[in-house]
Amino acid sequence: MSFPKGIKTLACVGKTTITIAHRLSTIRNSDRIIVINKGQIFETGSHQELIDKRGEYYQMVMAQSLTDVEEEDENLHEWKQPASRQTSHELYPERHSIRQQFSHTSVASLNEQDEDDLERLKRELAEEGASKSNAYSKTGEEVLTEGQQWAWIIFYIGLAECVCILIFRLAFEIASENMVFKIQVDCFRQLLRMPCAFFDDPKHSSERLSTRLAADSANARWGMDYPLGYFFSTGTGFVIAVVVASIYGWRMAILTASSFPFILYLDHRLGVYLERVYNKDSKVLEAASRVAMESIDNIKTVRSLTMEKVVMKRFTDLISVSHNEYKRRAKIQAFVIAFTGSFFYFVYCLNYAYGAYLVVNGTMWPIHVYIVLFCIAEVMHASDYAIGYFPDYIKARYAIGLIFKLLNDKPPFNNLSQTGAKPRETTEVSLKEVEFRYPQRQNQTVLRDFSLLFPSGKTTALVGASGCGKSSTISLIERFYDPNSGLVLLGGTPVPNIQPKYLRSKLSLVSQEPVLFDRTIRENIIYGLENDNISHERIQQVLEQANIKNFIDTLPEGIETNIGERGTQLSGGQKQRIAISRALIRNPDILLLDEATSAMDSQNEAVINIL
Ligand SMILES: Nc1ncnc2c1ncn2[C@@H]1O[C@H](COP(=O)(O)OP(=O)(O)O)[C@@H](O)[C@H]1O
Ligand SMILES: [Mg+2]
Repeated sequence: MSFPKGIKTLACVGKTTITIAHRLSTIRNSDRIIVINKGQIFETGSHQELIDKRGEYYQMVMAQSLTDVEEEDENLHEWKQPASRQTSHELYPERHSIRQQFSHTSVASLNEQDEDDLERLKRELAEEGASKSNAYSKTGEEVLTEGQQWAWIIFYIGLAECVCILIFRLAFEIASENMVFKIQVDCFRQLLRMPCAFFDDPKHSSERLSTRLAADSANARWGMDYPLGYFFSTGTGFVIAVVVASIYGWRMAILTASSFPFILYLDHRLGVYLERVYNKDSKVLEAASRVAMESIDNIKTVRSLTMEKVVMKRFTDLISVSHNEYKRRAKIQAFVIAFTGSFFYFVYCLNYAYGAYLVVNGTMWPIHVYIVLFCIAEVMHASDYAIGYFPDYIKARYAIGLIFKLLNDKPPFNNLSQTGAKPRETTEVSLKEVEFRYPQRQNQTVLRDFSLLFPSGKTTALVGASGCGKSSTISLIERFYDPNSGLVLLGGTPVPNIQPKYLRSKLSLVSQEPVLFDRTIRENIIYGLENDNISHERIQQVLEQANIKNFIDTLPEGIETNIGERGTQLSGGQKQRIAISRALIRNPDILLLDEATSAMDSQNEAVINIL
């Protein structure tokens, strides 16, 4: 504070001095002070006498001391000597007490209040006590000690925050990773449980199902990973902030809360829109990936039919739908998030003005307004986070919905079931009055009143026009499908009563287009065997039986040769012969050959038929 040096100096040299005072602090040491009001002398006396009198002069000192608070704060840097600070407190104890109450606020406007207001305020201040907000008036050692205490408290809060974040991130990330892992394993197990009819359904295309396993489970992660944790922590902050704000300033809390229905409505609309978009998007992207996979899988056919341009156009058309939708979605999402995110600043601004009004009005303490404003800032932060997290949450919810739909799908029978009969007699197969329609084509009866016996130890051949139901008969024996009526029996036991794994271990199927895996010849032959510790001699034996040993011996790596994806490095006949070796090594009771030698030359076919 710049002290009134002029008057003091003049008084010291004994001069008669008359001064018209604008700032009351400049006349503090005057011998006599005359207060004039409306042209009349109102009161006279020394500073102390007039202060004790609690009259007009006292009121003027009080009023001016409040306006001086701000100026004093501005001039704080001039308080270089502790002595001058001391002097100020001594000279103006009343002002100092007022300052203790208000030093942390900007209440310059208070000097415009009428006297009644001032009196009321003073009474309230006295009641409330100086302890509430005297932080700014502490000095020297006190400041240092308390400052150090607070520094330590903040340090420990920092440590606690570090530990909490560590535990929280680890907990959420490990939990979400475990859940994603479980979802992926459960989904795949569920797929393996499903009957073949499930995969005939176009809704269960391989692209769609693999998306469920990969992309959907990855999207589902965001519904449970650390963003959800942050959502809860900011949510807790939100609740605490709302409670505290309601306690300290319910008027401001109501003003803030009144904006929420609007924001929630906007968010709800955004959620509905996003869910629709994700639904459309996933269908289009699945169709696009189907086109891509089909083309890549059958690249030779695509080339021979010069279909490159056609498949390119189909692919581009499909992803363009998603592309355009994405751009539209980006605009809508950006608009809503920008609007809702910034909206709280407008609410904050209103609260700031309203808070100032409530202080001036004497309805709220400035410190309470600050508390409520801090709470509103916390509410803003929490809401801002929630709004930003919302699209991820919708995406995760959509993905989780699809995953649970798959997991809750109950198969008519469980392919992985461990229960069921294990009959001893498994060398004879019979069909009794079987009627069969494919589940996806219920209007076409493939087998009608079909009864047949495949005697034990005999070779039985099915012949007939293409599409007459030969392969379907084999599918019924393998229990890929169940007949609509009639019975399929293995050694006299109805196939549905037999444990699926046991049933299939007694059968070996070689189909017209055998599926080989991207592995070595040896691995392909023993693939899926529980006991894969098969001797080299046994493998050589089945290779010889399938008449492929000579070919394999010419390969530099022999049976350790990798045959490429789906056996692309082999001819059709070679693939069929490896598939026959694979069937033979299982030593089945019943060997099912469905046009298994169709791709072989007659010489090879003749050798194999000797089996
Ligand atoms: N998964 C399926 N879904 C619907 N219909 C099928 C399916 N598989 C075959 N079909 C139909 O069943 C009939 C018999 O087929 P199939 O048993 O494979 O004939 P083939 O005697 O040539 O082996 C055919 O008309 C065929 O179109
Ligand atoms: Mg067939």
